[in-house]
This record gives sequence, C-alpha cells and structure tokens, in this order.
Amino acid sequence: GAAVEVDISALKPGEKMTVEWRGKPVWIVKRTPEQLESLNKTESQLADPKSERKPNEFTPVYARNQARSIKPEVFVAVGICTHLGCSPSDKFQTGAQPSLPDDWNGGFLCPCHGSTFDIAGRVFKNKPAPDNLEVPPHMYLSDTKLLIG
Ligand code: FES
Repeated sequence: GAAVEVDISALKPGEKMTVEWRGKPVWIVKRTPEQLESLNKTESQLADPKSERKPNEFTPVYARNQARSIKPEVFVAVGICTHLGCSPSDKFQTGAQPSLPDDWNGGFLCPCHGSTFDIAGRVFKNKPAPDNLEVPPHMYLSDTKLLIG
C-alpha cells in the first residue's frame, strides 16, 4: 500500500490529528509533558507495558519503549481497537470519570466493550482487548514531516 506523507507542524501539545493509511485511521497525538509523565503511573496497571506481545505485529522496534514512539511527544497509532475493531475515543481529560481508572490521566476508551488504553495506546489489564494499539511503520522525513507506511 502507498505510504502517506503527513505535515505535523500545526499539531499542538494535547492535540490529535487523524490521517488515512491503507483504509485505516492513523492517529498522530502530540503529547504534553503531563501526559508523558502519566505513563509512569499507568505502568503497573497494564496488560503489556513493554509491548512484548506480538511485537512484530503491533510495535515496530523503534517504538518498543515506554512512550511507544520515535519522538517521545509524538504518538502514532492505528485508531482501531485490538479487540473487535471498533474505534476508541479520546479521553484526554484528567480526573475521575465513570468507567475509567481513578487516577486516569488521559488515553483512549473503546465504546464497544470498554477497553481502556493509556496515552501510549497500552491496554489496561483485565480488558477485552488483547493487545496494545498498533503502531504503524513510520519515519520522519524532517522535523515536522512524517511518512506513514
Ligand atoms: Fe474495543 Fe471490544 S472492540 S473493546
């Protein structure tokens, strides 16, 4: 499939944009320092914090780190739940919310069966989704230009 070039220069911290790649939605999220810090808190509540399950399918080698990304602040992921393929919604707000962990600091919630993912797309324990969200193959062409695929 064709690779997609994306200009991310207008993306501000805390914002997400969506592009299409091979008919799938790909999210690009510019994370705030607080969101990156929250990854330390979620660590113990996750099913696969180090993305060790099926790494070749879901997490390219350059994203096998806590933030699951090349640059810590820029998260690139396929916006499709690894359970049955629904599209998770953004939950970037902080503070307690129904059906979310008490110390929730932002991430994604799948409306279909309630799987929750942190802001690096790592799935929480005891949720129906078996895997972290897929990080698609990607690279930087320049500081603000990404190539997906
Ligand atoms: Fe997302 Fe089932 S499809 S939790």
